[in-house]
Amino acid sequence: MPRAVGSPGGRLGAVVTTTIVALGGCSGNSALNPKGYGARQVTTLWWWLFWVSLAVWVIVMLFVGWALLRRQRRDVTVRGGDARGFVAITGIVAPLVVLVGVYAVSLRTQVALGSFPGGRDAVELEVVGHRWWWQARYPATGAVTANEIHIPVGETVRVRLTTADVIHSFWVPQLAPKTDTVAGQVNTAWLRADRAGRYPGRCAEYCGLEHAMMDFLVVAEPAEEYRAWLRRVSGPARSPSTPQEREGLRVFETSDCAACHAISGTRARGRVGPDLTTIGSRWSIGAGAVPNTIGDLGGWISNARTLKPGNAMPPQPLAAADLQALLAYLVSLK
Ligand code: CUA
Repeated sequence: MPRAVGSPGGRLGAVVTTTIVALGGCSGNSALNPKGYGARQVTTLWWWLFWVSLAVWVIVMLFVGWALLRRQRRDVTVRGGDARGFVAITGIVAPLVVLVGVYAVSLRTQVALGSFPGGRDAVELEVVGHRWWWQARYPATGAVTANEIHIPVGETVRVRLTTADVIHSFWVPQLAPKTDTVAGQVNTAWLRADRAGRYPGRCAEYCGLEHAMMDFLVVAEPAEEYRAWLRRVSGPARSPSTPQEREGLRVFETSDCAACHAISGTRARGRVGPDLTTIGSRWSIGAGAVPNTIGDLGGWISNARTLKPGNAMPPQPLAAADLQALLAYLVSLK
C-alpha cells in the first residue's frame, strides 16, 4: 500500500528525496563545485553562512524544546531579573556577534573578488552582452568570437564586461560569480581555472524574452592549446576548398548574411550579429539554443525564430542549392 505523504514514513521519504536532489546540485555545473578562483571564494562564503545558520537553528530549536518541556512540566516560574538577562544575551548580544561576524566574512569575500587574484600575468578579454548572445574579443590579437571563450588553465584572465543594450550578468558557476554588464560602465570579472575543462556560463540577469537562451561556454585548456586556438581565431577564416564551399562563400557575401555577420578575410564585415570566422567549431548555435549540427544550422538559417523566437535574425528564404552550399561553407569554418 502506498504511504500517505502525511505519514511518518512518507515524510521521511520526502526529506530523503529532497536532500538527495539538493545534494545533486553540489556536483556537476554548480557553484558548490568550484573549479576556479572566484567561484571558490563564493563557495567558502556559502559554507560559512550554511554552518553558522545551522548552528543558530540548532541552538534555537534546543531552546524551543527546552521551553516546551518546561511548559509540559508546568515549570514556568521565571524571575524578572533572569528573563531580562536572558533576553539581552540571546536577543541582542548573540545576534550582534553572529551578524557582525558574518558581515566581516562577506566583506572579505567581496574585497577578494574585486581585486587582482595574483598569479601569472593577466590575459585580457573583453565581453559584451547583447540581446541575446555574448561577444568576446581578445584585444591582444583582435580576435572576435561569440558565446565561447577559451582561457589558459592556471592563468589569470581579466574580463572587461560591457553591454550593447540592457543589463545582463556574466556568470560561470564553477569559475566566477555573477557580474553585471551595465550600460556606460566597465565591470571587471576575474577568471582563473584550476584544471582543464568545459565550463558552462549563462546570463544571470533577466534581460527579456530570450534571457534563458543566453548561454556561453568557457573552455579552459593547456597554454599551448589555448595559444593555438587564439592563433586560429585571430587569423583569416579557412579558405573554401571545394566548388560547393566556394559557392557557399559567394552566397554568404552576396546575401543578407554579410550585412550582419563578419567572416575574417572575406568581404563579409557585418557587426550586428556574431562573428562567424570559426562558426564550424563552436559548441552551439544561437547561444545555446540548438547544437551545432549541419541540420540545426540549416534550420537556424531558414528561420531562426522558430528555434529562438526573440532572436534578431530574420528568416532567410534561400534556394535549396544555395542553402546547401552555404551550409557546406559554414561548417568548414573550423
Ligand atoms: Cu542577458 Cu539575461
